[in-house]
Amino acid sequence: MCGIIGYIGNKNSIPTLIKGLERLEYRGYDSAGICTIQNQRLKNLKVKGRISGLKKNLEFKNLEGNIGIAQTRWATHGAPSKINAHPHLDCKGEIAIVHNGIIENYQALKDILEKEGHKIVSATDSEIIAHLIEKFYQGDLERAVMRALKLLEGAFGLAIIHAKEPKIVVVRKGSPLIIGKGSNEMFVASDAAALLDQTRKVVYLQDNELATVTANSFSVKNLDGKEIEKEIEEIKWTAGQIEKKGYKHFMLKEIFEQPQALENTLRGRIKEKKIKLSLNLDPNSIKRIVLIACGTSWHACLVGKYIIEKLTKIPVEVDYASEFRYRNPLVASQDLLITISQSGETADTLGALKEAELKRAKTLGIVNVVGSTVSREVDSGIFLHAGPEIGVASTKAFTCQLTALTLLALYFQQEKGISPDKEILEELKNISKKIQLILKEADKIKAVAEGFTENKNFLYLGRGINFPVALEGALKLKEISYIHAEGYPAAEMKHGPIALIDKDMPVVFVATRDQTYNKILSNIEEVKARKGRIITVISKEDSKIEELSDFIIKIPETNELLSPILNVVPLQLLAYYIADLKNIDPDRPRNLAKSVTVE
Ligand code: M6R
Repeated sequence: MCGIIGYIGNKNSIPTLIKGLERLEYRGYDSAGICTIQNQRLKNLKVKGRISGLKKNLEFKNLEGNIGIAQTRWATHGAPSKINAHPHLDCKGEIAIVHNGIIENYQALKDILEKEGHKIVSATDSEIIAHLIEKFYQGDLERAVMRALKLLEGAFGLAIIHAKEPKIVVVRKGSPLIIGKGSNEMFVASDAAALLDQTRKVVYLQDNELATVTANSFSVKNLDGKEIEKEIEEIKWTAGQIEKKGYKHFMLKEIFEQPQALENTLRGRIKEKKIKLSLNLDPNSIKRIVLIACGTSWHACLVGKYIIEKLTKIPVEVDYASEFRYRNPLVASQDLLITISQSGETADTLGALKEAELKRAKTLGIVNVVGSTVSREVDSGIFLHAGPEIGVASTKAFTCQLTALTLLALYFQQEKGISPDKEILEELKNISKKIQLILKEADKIKAVAEGFTENKNFLYLGRGINFPVALEGALKLKEISYIHAEGYPAAEMKHGPIALIDKDMPVVFVATRDQTYNKILSNIEEVKARKGRIITVISKEDSKIEELSDFIIKIPETNELLSPILNVVPLQLLAYYIADLKNIDPDRPRNLAKSVTVE
């Protein structure tokens, strides 16, 4: 969602704030703003649109100050506009806040504040925070914030400054916040990516913690004012990892990083045909597994169900995190709840995790971002080590999630006294090289994309373990190219979607050789008979499907349980090239943000 950054130190804050905002832009990009303290007065500059617009603004030249806060916004309440952009100020223009999250009771608070004479100018839920702090301010910012917090309901990461106080107060409740420690300077941010150019030393705030940060120190308290000791931790990612490195977009870079990312997920986890995972749980005590996530990570869950059930015979259910959390789910202490999340900060996923914890289920997280909330909350976890994923459309995280799920299933086999599946163990050694072979065909996939930039609809069909790949292919296309696309189990086509098929409907089949091969072949015939345009992802040497197809993308042979890892790659590229040919920036698709930290 929104990205926030703050600086306090002996330098001009502007370059650091701008760099930080640029690093955070993937979290939201509809408006941006900066507020600094200059000679005990606030200087606030906001623009509609991207950070590049903020930098071009003429007033920007006069902005300086060695304390400042800034935000890049993804609108929740109030349209993207200059007035709704953050930072928001109180009536006197002495208090400035930046906010990531949602204030659920803002309307009630707004009514009270307006009755008391506060003039609220924006349509956001956030502005009332500045006014509420103003209401309680009596010369001590931290104390005023503490009092305001007692009235705020919802989720927030906040950074607050007062023109007369050389400090930044930050609060975390439901939205991530970290403090970065430099030498004679400190930083605050919603995401480690914002700090990578400045420091590696960070402190992760937990929910219901407030910190007061000065140029040389920080103190953390709970919301009752009790001091809390915090550990300084080290970020392992480097600034170089979050550069485009010659690629036109982060998404393309991340697609091409998949061979290396998968190697990193596997590294050190298979030794002498044994799976090495240090998990705090006994698979023999697990009666049922529930996999929960959102978006692409939910598609990984669907693939995970096939892999885990096939290899371990433990029953697996899959649920959307947002549905699971509100339906009083039946989970108990013999259930294992596995949450999958690239960011580890998705609000719905965190909500579902809390629900499972309340019901005493064991929990395990498959997460990319080290230090993220999911990774801290779960009983055990597997980090993907995929490196930072900046493109809003998830790519390498997905294939690494599938790899981690495979490792987990093999680990469960082993801990249940069965030798981990030898063929899969062997094939995992080759999987990165096979992705590389697919990536070498990128130009051919681009040539396919050229024929589909004008289409308004797409169907993606797959069966069995490749049905979720069809869903993922459709999601990739719709989120970055704005073409309506639906994923379906291929056999379901004749129960409805077949009515849509005519010469203008492209149908992408994920049809590599597996146990349902003959069935999907019939489904392709059905589309052919109705003159649909057929794009197929097929195994090498498949002349039968080749003959039926208008376009083919060939995939190296692999074990069926690993086939989604390969089959999704051409679909990622197809979506990328269609978006790029339509001149859409796939790293910043409209209305989307990388990490959805609101419900
Ligand atoms: O960080 P998470 O894996 O929890 O994110 C879940 C979804 O928000 C995410 O996968 C989203 O669907 C992506 N835009 C997909 O490309």
